[in-house]
Amino acid sequence: MPLESRHLLGLQGMSQPDIQLILDTAISFREVLERPIKKVPPLQGKTIANMFFENSTRTRFSFELAERRLSADVLGFQASGTSVAKGETLKDTARNIEAMKVDMVVMRHSASGAPHYLSQVINANVINAGDGSHEHPTQALLDMYTIREKLGKLDGLHVCIVGDIAHSRVARSNIYGLKTMGAKVSVCGPATLMPRGIEKLGVDVYHHIDDIIPHVDVLNVLRIQLERDAGRLFPTIREFHNYYGITRQRLERSPKPITIMHPGPINRDVEISADVADSEHSVILQQVLNGVAIRMAVLYLLATRN
Ligand code: CP
Repeated sequence: MPLESRHLLGLQGMSQPDIQLILDTAISFREVLERPIKKVPPLQGKTIANMFFENSTRTRFSFELAERRLSADVLGFQASGTSVAKGETLKDTARNIEAMKVDMVVMRHSASGAPHYLSQVINANVINAGDGSHEHPTQALLDMYTIREKLGKLDGLHVCIVGDIAHSRVARSNIYGLKTMGAKVSVCGPATLMPRGIEKLGVDVYHHIDDIIPHVDVLNVLRIQLERDAGRLFPTIREFHNYYGITRQRLERSPKPITIMHPGPINRDVEISADVADSEHSVILQQVLNGVAIRMAVLYLLATRN
């Protein structure tokens, strides 16, 4: 069965079979990444534009690599080097790019809902690479893939997302995806970094990290989004680290090993101590590698659905 939607805008409302299909398809692309020649032909002749209106390292390189591994032609785009800087609108920019016969657009934007808007004004497939504090679907898909790879399943696991939940599109997409796949999800952070009504998404809310650590299988640690003014919402970085930082001492109080995840970029010794980030329980770099396979799967499934 093909994916239900011709765009990937978010995981809210995405069905369990669609998530399963993406995760399962990524397995064979993950295998391609281990080959001496890491390139396959399915997107030959397709052109993909990567429109990044916000900074990115992992997502931008990962999409670009996934596109090239699938033999697509790739257009790079950063707002500062284009006519957006001269006042051109998102709609005009996208329609002009599409006029050059682009098949798919991958977009990151600071405005929540920007990819949804784009999907209504262009014919190309639109993939959300992170919109404001709304969703980051491919990050959550690669997180779920990595958990399943490490722990063998998603159903029945307990995942806690820790830190700046209020500004986090990663948190929202993970909550939607993990709950659809049968995991239990908790969130933990100061009340000022917790979005109002978050419990309506079916998560348990904690404000003391030591209360939840003994009960979880996975901790997904988020950075404080200082660029979105999160620094005003708690007294000092040192205090945040003392109350919420994931340290070896804290983890040693758990009766079982906990898988440690982080979407990056990491602020070492703020939300996570350097030794935990580099520990044997950390899968942070596996997340990055799996991200290429997940993005290959998404691009492949959308392109072959048309
Ligand atoms: N995880 C993530 O979205 O990282 P980048 O901002 O570097 O793309």
